[in-house]
Amino acid sequence: MNIIKDIEKLLNDGAIKAGFDEKFSVSFSDKREICDFQCNGAFALAKKYGKNPFDIASEIVGSIEQNEDFIFSVARPAFINIKLTDTLLSKWGNFVLHDERGGLEKNEKKARVLLDYGGANVAKALHIGHLRPAIIGESLKRLYKLLGDEVISDVHLGDWGLQMGLTELQLFEEGKLGFFFGESKEKYDITIDDLNEAYPTANKRKVSEEDFKKKAEEWTLKIQKKQEPYYSVYKIIRELSVKEIAKNYSKLGAEFDLWKGESDASDFTKEAVEIIKNKGLARESEGALVVDVAEEGENIPTEDGKFINPMPPCLIQKSNGADLYATTDIATILMRNKEYKLDRIEYVTDGRQKMHFTQVFRVCKKSGISPEGQELVHIVNGTMNGNDGKPFKTRSGDTVKLEDIIALLTSKANEKLEANGAKADADMALSIGVAAMKFGDLSNTVSKDYVFDIDKFMAFEGKTGPYIQYSVVRINSILSKLEGVEDGEINVTSPEEREILLASLRLNSAYYICYREKSLNNLCSSLYDFASAFSTFYNNHNVVGEKDKEKQKSYVALLKLIRKKMLQALDVLAISVPKKM
Ligand code: ARG
Repeated sequence: MNIIKDIEKLLNDGAIKAGFDEKFSVSFSDKREICDFQCNGAFALAKKYGKNPFDIASEIVGSIEQNEDFIFSVARPAFINIKLTDTLLSKWGNFVLHDERGGLEKNEKKARVLLDYGGANVAKALHIGHLRPAIIGESLKRLYKLLGDEVISDVHLGDWGLQMGLTELQLFEEGKLGFFFGESKEKYDITIDDLNEAYPTANKRKVSEEDFKKKAEEWTLKIQKKQEPYYSVYKIIRELSVKEIAKNYSKLGAEFDLWKGESDASDFTKEAVEIIKNKGLARESEGALVVDVAEEGENIPTEDGKFINPMPPCLIQKSNGADLYATTDIATILMRNKEYKLDRIEYVTDGRQKMHFTQVFRVCKKSGISPEGQELVHIVNGTMNGNDGKPFKTRSGDTVKLEDIIALLTSKANEKLEANGAKADADMALSIGVAAMKFGDLSNTVSKDYVFDIDKFMAFEGKTGPYIQYSVVRINSILSKLEGVEDGEINVTSPEEREILLASLRLNSAYYICYREKSLNNLCSSLYDFASAFSTFYNNHNVVGEKDKEKQKSYVALLKLIRKKMLQALDVLAISVPKKM
């Protein structure tokens, strides 16, 4: 059942009958007190048919067959207004309630997509910069799947850069790797705490100790060349770090199909460089290998609002032979295209990587590493700011660890629950804290910066994650009071019931809008409107005490529909629902 298509068909058939062979489309009405849908198509036809638009609209409406589902009318200057009857909304409700996909149709064309939205770095803690990509990427993945795409998600760990050499060298100098380097008989088991300390220390030393930095670069190269024992130690560090990373992603509800990293592409860098060379795209520059990717007349915006022109060449090999960040991404595209047939490869990161991806994509397109017709997309997320409008930092001005954000959200949720008199457990608090964060984030257009306002995000009333969670919890509790009542047919008789079903239509439309825009904000606002419609309904109808048993059965069915649609949307947003709130 597709109401919008049905309206459009009636309109088009009516138009043909009236002598206008045109295709019309309808949209949700701006004036909801007057009608539910509107069509503005008559305006554009005036010139072509030499008639005034009001007459055109009237003739079309006059030619539409009377039916029990829709009421068509014309309003000046030439709008065609469409109202859905209660009969139709009841049919829609019953359909949605029993349809496996809640009335959502899959896209006409199924795409095969690889989504790269992790980017956590081995040996470094996950930080705030990884938060938005994880939230946004996870939801886009779920949205694409729901609408029929085949999606593979890849965490794409940053595990092939200087941080490995830095960390390993630091641990060595701390005397923790003696066993591996044959200097001690006793094996020291490295812990995650060791790692968490080693990298920041090494990173500081790199700035002030030239020798240390040089040596770390050498060690990095040795790891990349898989030289022992450097490589084996690296693998231990990697494994330890990945476990910790996985724990934090899982708290956020981010699930990856692939746990690959830059290191996995290392087997393909040689081949990628060969392909690029054979195409005659590479040239030497001060011992390094570069590819010119600038296009004529372009301006590349940088983070600070300035422009680089032209686009600098893409560095694909360092003079010492080490792999570069761009090379790992190019080789990764090569690897992915060998393994899968992909219509799109999408990346979610913040704007600092704009230039990187522009360069990588161009090299892949020029060299054919990305086949024709394959879309390479960089989805750029805005930054999460503090109250001062600047990127969210700790009090001391440091980058915030993801773990600390999650702890902050959880403790805030705990406070709220306790203030409400609920006994919170750790799962409940995590679920609510994460919901607050995610909904607050996803309510914004992906590309926009926003302010992390924890009190606003965490409110149990208003357009927030906890409010939506609470709506489901409330429905669960109402339904448990009505356990003996079976659900009947939905039979719409009141404006509040109408509003819920109309809101469900808007909610369904939102999925397609979000798919096009690659941003979840529309789904968040439609979901909020839907939850508000439920609340209005519940405040105006005594569901539990309803004497008319048929009516009550219809209410029960309606509540089940609401819960089903809410859970479907929350699943896309990767928000769970706690048992109680
Ligand atoms: N590891 C990078 C960082 O932390 C992000 C990786 C983004 N994805 C990619 N395929 N390059 O900044």
